[in-house]
Amino acid sequence: MSVPVDEKERFARLEEMGLTPLWRLRTRLQPATEAGEAKGAHQESPAVAAPTDQILDTSPQKPAAAAAASSVPARERGERAPRQPPRPSSGPAGKRPDLRPVPATPAAPAVGIPARTVDPERAARIATLDWEALEAEIRACTACPLHRTRAQAVPGVGNRQARWMFVGEGPGREEDRRGEPFVGPAGKLLDAMLFALGLDRTRVYIANAVKCRPPDNRTPTAEEIAVCAPFLFRQIALVRPRVLVALGRPAALALLGEEIKIAQARGRIFRYGDIPVVVTYHPAYLLRNPADKAKAWEDLCRARALVEGEG
Ligand code: URA
Repeated sequence: MSVPVDEKERFARLEEMGLTPLWRLRTRLQPATEAGEAKGAHQESPAVAAPTDQILDTSPQKPAAAAAASSVPARERGERAPRQPPRPSSGPAGKRPDLRPVPATPAAPAVGIPARTVDPERAARIATLDWEALEAEIRACTACPLHRTRAQAVPGVGNRQARWMFVGEGPGREEDRRGEPFVGPAGKLLDAMLFALGLDRTRVYIANAVKCRPPDNRTPTAEEIAVCAPFLFRQIALVRPRVLVALGRPAALALLGEEIKIAQARGRIFRYGDIPVVVTYHPAYLLRNPADKAKAWEDLCRARALVEGEG
């Protein structure tokens, strides 16, 4: 159930996403009811729509020129030149997505990471774990050096039958302390993003590419992401979301197995197995670059269309 919020709080949360006062209410974009959840649970949620002077292109395919025009200085955390051009793993995004449920143990995408870091036996074993065993294994994991400096591992949080799954980079200081993803400043913005979609943490699943905090909040290395990937893959297989939202480059690397630049990859629909992957900016980046919140909102609307089978 959504938590009732008063008007003032609602306004404050939407403002955080840059959706007021420019954005006006419109019925078309009223939030969807989550499968298996009480109808009417969204009733107090906002019907957020495009700003009147900035109608959203919620079509999945954005012309390349427009995508290029939306590129921003590579100040996003971990932004580096891509090793290879982004390559959508499916055909044109205008095509209706295949939203068949992902098999319980999908073949892991070939993460473009040194093969020596991937232990196939460990990955195969993790791919069989249930939630309890998986979280226990994550908490006890010593497979990469990040365990040495963590206070605790941070498995994930949310609805294990969610239609939406958000993937971040890795725990920060606050997450390391509290054992929950996205509870610091970036998490507050992520909550605002969810709210704008008529969602909250009870309706989505949130996980990270790496489960242990990298020292000094540095970007996790490709090797660390590879070693941790079997955990994320198993979480995805258990949740079976309708859409995966990659928040930032490390998340995209974990899910797609390739280095991409968010500014260039936005607007394309990638795939993790059968599941469409929407890439967008990390909330921490958006805190530093609030002008790009509108682009993130556009990406979220695209993800919503996929969840609703309209992509
Ligand atoms: N940033 C992330 O990518 N994940 C978190 O859990 C917190 C901040």
